[in-house]
Amino acid sequence: MKDILQQLEERRETARMGGGQKRIDAQHGRGKLTARERVELLLDEGSFEEFDMFVTHRCTDFGMEQQKPAGDGVVAGWGTINGRLVYVFSQDFTVLGGSVSATHARKICKIMDMAVQNGAPVIGINDSGGARIQEGVDSLAGYGDVFQRNITASGVVPQISVIMGPCAGGAVYSPAMTDFIFMVKDSSYMFVTGPDVVKTVTNEQVSAEELGGASTHTRKSSVADAAFENDVEALAEVRRLVDFLPSNNREKPPVRPFFDDPNRVEASLDTLVPENPNTPYDMKELILKLGDEGDFYEIQAEFAKNIITGFIRLEGRTVGVVANQPMVLAGCLDIDSSRKAARFVRFCDAFEIPILTLVDVPGFLPGTSQEYGGVIKHGAKLLFAYGEATVPMVTVITRKAYGGAYVVMASKHLRADFNYAWPTAEVAVMGAKGATEIIHRADLGDAEKIAKHTADYETRFANPFVASERGFVDEVIMPRTTRKRIARAFASLRNKQSQMPWKKHDNIPL
Ligand code: HXC
Repeated sequence: MKDILQQLEERRETARMGGGQKRIDAQHGRGKLTARERVELLLDEGSFEEFDMFVTHRCTDFGMEQQKPAGDGVVAGWGTINGRLVYVFSQDFTVLGGSVSATHARKICKIMDMAVQNGAPVIGINDSGGARIQEGVDSLAGYGDVFQRNITASGVVPQISVIMGPCAGGAVYSPAMTDFIFMVKDSSYMFVTGPDVVKTVTNEQVSAEELGGASTHTRKSSVADAAFENDVEALAEVRRLVDFLPSNNREKPPVRPFFDDPNRVEASLDTLVPENPNTPYDMKELILKLGDEGDFYEIQAEFAKNIITGFIRLEGRTVGVVANQPMVLAGCLDIDSSRKAARFVRFCDAFEIPILTLVDVPGFLPGTSQEYGGVIKHGAKLLFAYGEATVPMVTVITRKAYGGAYVVMASKHLRADFNYAWPTAEVAVMGAKGATEIIHRADLGDAEKIAKHTADYETRFANPFVASERGFVDEVIMPRTTRKRIARAFASLRNKQSQMPWKKHDNIPL
């Protein structure tokens, strides 16, 4: 009996060593942790339970019978993050470059199936040379099976991808279909075709980092949601994110203890909006002052900065925030900001996370690049996302809410539940100057008359009261009381029930 126990321990020890000490050292030498070290850091201490530690590949080509490492290049299983169940797989670059064989893929599929069945998030740590070249089409089939599970699980359980090494070729499409992608600066990259192929086909010379590094994907392509300095920081941030999310689409997000009075009054908010309507101010200041303990988890902070998306808590409960940022492009909507916010709104709606929208939007960005790029279609994504959302929605207009953008930003007309405005709000079809130049075209040459018309228009429309007379704004509130008002509003909506008519699925403009 003792021998058998001993044998098990030895087999385990061999499996834990992955590709051996030399390759582990090489991994460390690149500033990267091993697959197991990552899992240990991600999960609560001692909570990891492994599946399929002894699985090996079945390939007999190219001398593969000679190397059958236990675990086949991926560590998979389950554990907890702050006590809540999650499933995890972590590719082991020290074993055949973390490449994906049929059995490697099957291990991933197994934990994904369990995650959906048991209603818990899936976290995938990617560090792989891609398809196991020795296995050919069997490897592609494995990827296909993982892709199908990503799609089936989408909107059912949160899926988070952490890219911590190479992720290239078709392999990128599994993370691409998950809800959030995190990258590590200088040690992770994602691209469909690498620098060599790019050089051959398009004659462009580009490094792997430039083509698909963390900076590229968080600032230019928006493929990734955040980039971190190293593995440790990235994994700590995944833990923080998971804390904001429900385990699945039938559960509410967790309620965390809070020490911040929901009735807290913030006198400084009364002067947040500058007197001059063209002077920017930082919308993030408002977000930080509204959330419990000033905690804000921003998503896509480096992309389309004219809109801010992320999570706060009110009375310990997660709220998704979408806010125009007057500091960038005057907070206007454009292609990138519409796409960014639409995806965020749809995530919140899919996972029953209430949405707070903070509005200061002068309209859509004009220009040929926007029109040729399809701002009509992309702007419609955000409109559509809000209009189909059935979660509790509270909107606060701090300043401008003009034209189509007013309607898009969670207006009453898109079934927002509470629409508040600050006294500084201007709900109008357009700015006073533009409106005057159209209505009083005949007076365009007369500066004095135009100034008077503009002032008249401002007095008549640059306020929240016309909209509130019609019930499009439910109440004009004192800025200092905003936290209390929205906390109470969301509290009143905790049992909200709202449904769309049956359909197979909608046809959101993609
Ligand atoms: C089998 C692989 C492998 C692969 C790496 N290895 N990639 N084994 N299949 N795809 C092995 C190496 O042979 C090596 O083994 C070990 O992993 C480490 O690799 P190195 O090349 O030494 O590491 P490094 O210099 O860091 O380079 C990493 C790399 C490179 C850039 C990822 O290995 C590479 O280019 N690999 C091939 C990538 C590729 O073409 N993949 C297929 C793409 S097609 P030893 O024993 O020496 O340690 C694809 C399609 C997916 O993925 C489609 C889905 C639908």
